[in-house]
Amino acid sequence: MKRCTNLSDFYPDDYVEWLMSSLRLTSTDLASDRIVEPLHHLHRTWMHGSGGTSVNYDDSALLCAYAVYYMTVQMPKLWFMFERCPTLADGVDTTSAAPDIIDLGCGPGTFTWAWLFYVMARSPGAPVPIRRVRCVDRSPRCLAVARQLSEELKRRYLPLQHVVFEFVEADWRDHIGAQCGVMIFGNVLVEAEESGLPMVPSSADNVVIIEPGTRPHFQILRHVRDAFIGKKWSITFPCTSANACPMQQDNWCHFHINRFVLPLIQRLSNRTGRRNPRHNFIGFVFARSSQPRDVPGWRVLSRLRRVKRSGVRYLCDGSHLVEAVLNRKDKNDTNRVFLTAEAGDAITIDTAGAPAADLVRTGRIRAGDRVRDVGKALELPHPKP
Ligand SMILES: C[S@@+](CC[C@H](N)C(=O)[O-])C[C@H]1O[C@@H](n2cnc3c(N)ncnc32)[C@H](O)[C@@H]1O
Repeated sequence: MKRCTNLSDFYPDDYVEWLMSSLRLTSTDLASDRIVEPLHHLHRTWMHGSGGTSVNYDDSALLCAYAVYYMTVQMPKLWFMFERCPTLADGVDTTSAAPDIIDLGCGPGTFTWAWLFYVMARSPGAPVPIRRVRCVDRSPRCLAVARQLSEELKRRYLPLQHVVFEFVEADWRDHIGAQCGVMIFGNVLVEAEESGLPMVPSSADNVVIIEPGTRPHFQILRHVRDAFIGKKWSITFPCTSANACPMQQDNWCHFHINRFVLPLIQRLSNRTGRRNPRHNFIGFVFARSSQPRDVPGWRVLSRLRRVKRSGVRYLCDGSHLVEAVLNRKDKNDTNRVFLTAEAGDAITIDTAGAPAADLVRTGRIRAGDRVRDVGKALELPHPKP
């Protein structure tokens, strides 16, 4: 059984075979205009068009290209969040009589599959602790593709045999009050700008939101965040703060994954001229219980910038956004984690001697400060098969 040391390890070994046999694609199709042309179209629409609402997901060629490329690229975003918020995967409600997962605006089922792959990789061979999945979309074509993918998955994986899949053609707003362990919104809220957002689910235990990582999208999601806090939900990721978000208009809380991890994506990216490996996203996890379950302290929001051998990076604790500096003279073993943490990791900083408020005011990491990595699930021992 493979061990997961990188996000890309969460794709099952037969991921591409599964995709191709479910979508009835051959390897020649993958290199052909059948996929490449719709990818150009989708890219142009998102970059220069009027946004997601102008994409017709009932167009089968478009949807097939979306499923091959964008679905594949999106999945590690959920894994990135899982790895930095381990209680999320444990938090799936297994006792509820209602569906465990509801995926609203599911498209081809992107984050449902990502969730199942993660759980299967974490507990190899064990039945997944999810009994029901409801995929909701207004596009019948999306639902047909999602159904095909689910049937092929069940054929391949014993741990999924007991999972009941439902595919429901509806507006996601009609299912916002449904009971479930986890409600997923993947790249769908931003398509609903004019539809009365924010709406807060009433009977979900956890809500996962993954949206494109742009500044305008963050402005929409700030309102969503405020609405959840207003209804006494707590935030599990990226911060646990119920205070006003410190991000100003010119800044936004986002993360990125490397989209080039599978050869299939590398080839299609080459063919469509997409050279940038970074795929930005915004992610939130909310829990209905008022007690936050993870306490990240500070979230590292940027890569390390070196200025005259000092290190600079943005940190946020949900209340304060700080451009923190570690002067080269102050570097030592107790604060080294500040330099080595990856963007997106959570760290704690015990400020020895100086009051914690000094860090917020000056952004200075001092020689006596003890910086610790909160730890990622990838570093935890994996259960034996
Ligand atoms: C960008 S795709 C995202 C698909 C998938 N969640 C993902 O992240 O890959 C947006 C999906 O939301 C669906 N959608 C948009 N507005 C909707 C609405 N009001 N009700 C139901 N589905 C909607 C579209 O049909 C499309 O399948």
